[in-house]
Amino acid sequence: MKICRAKDYNDMSRKAANIISAQIILKPNCVLGLATGSTPIGTYKQLVEWYEKGDLDFSEVMTVNLDEYKGLTRENPQSYYYFMNEHLFGKVNIDKHRTFLPDGTEPDSATACENYNEILRAVGEPDLQLLGLGHNGHIGFNEPGEIFSTETHCIDLSEQTIKANARFFETEAEVPRQAYTMGIKTIMSARRILLVVSGEDKADIVKTAFFGPITPQVPASILQLHRNVTLVADEAALSKF
Ligand code: F6R
Repeated sequence: MKICRAKDYNDMSRKAANIISAQIILKPNCVLGLATGSTPIGTYKQLVEWYEKGDLDFSEVMTVNLDEYKGLTRENPQSYYYFMNEHLFGKVNIDKHRTFLPDGTEPDSATACENYNEILRAVGEPDLQLLGLGHNGHIGFNEPGEIFSTETHCIDLSEQTIKANARFFETEAEVPRQAYTMGIKTIMSARRILLVVSGEDKADIVKTAFFGPITPQVPASILQLHRNVTLVADEAALSKF
């Protein structure tokens, strides 16, 4: 694992955006695996700025997102579809037909997951998969459990994740209890993984996940086995080792 030490959140965002932009420049028709949450917002903002300056072209890029809440429509401001439009897709020249997320409005989990798996198979392995890190070690919405998951599945969100994500909703009760997420095997199939982590509150989990044993109780620990992972983290997140 390559560790790229950033001064602070802005520096982390710029460094991560640099890596993504290099990917797009080197392979304009690349497949990007994308994440939501607070951490990559600065990265997306930087990519949008470079696009606006004429330095980046998204016209041939294809994207697959990690996850989506079950039950939220695309119009719901808390849905990940909405998030991606707000922070990236709506602000660059990407072809929306080349952007994919699990369908949160599909009530039948088996259908939603199979449909997304089919899309992932057709699109092929991401050239670069962007990841954030949950406080409990989740990646995508692969929560701690007994086994590492394989493909897209419907997950019951853990209490910790519901609490952590309540900040985006008016009340904790509004946080969906389930989500569709890409599986660990699919994430691990990416040619390159770029993990962004910021803040002192993530320092413990960074240490546990990347310097502790590989276990499905800490899903991100599996990344220790990937051949090409870059962790871009700020000083605060790296403060425990
Ligand atoms: C979001 C996702 C999650 C987040 C994680 C960290 O698509 O897959 O794994 O990356 O929950 O979220 P933040 O960045 O909000 O701390």
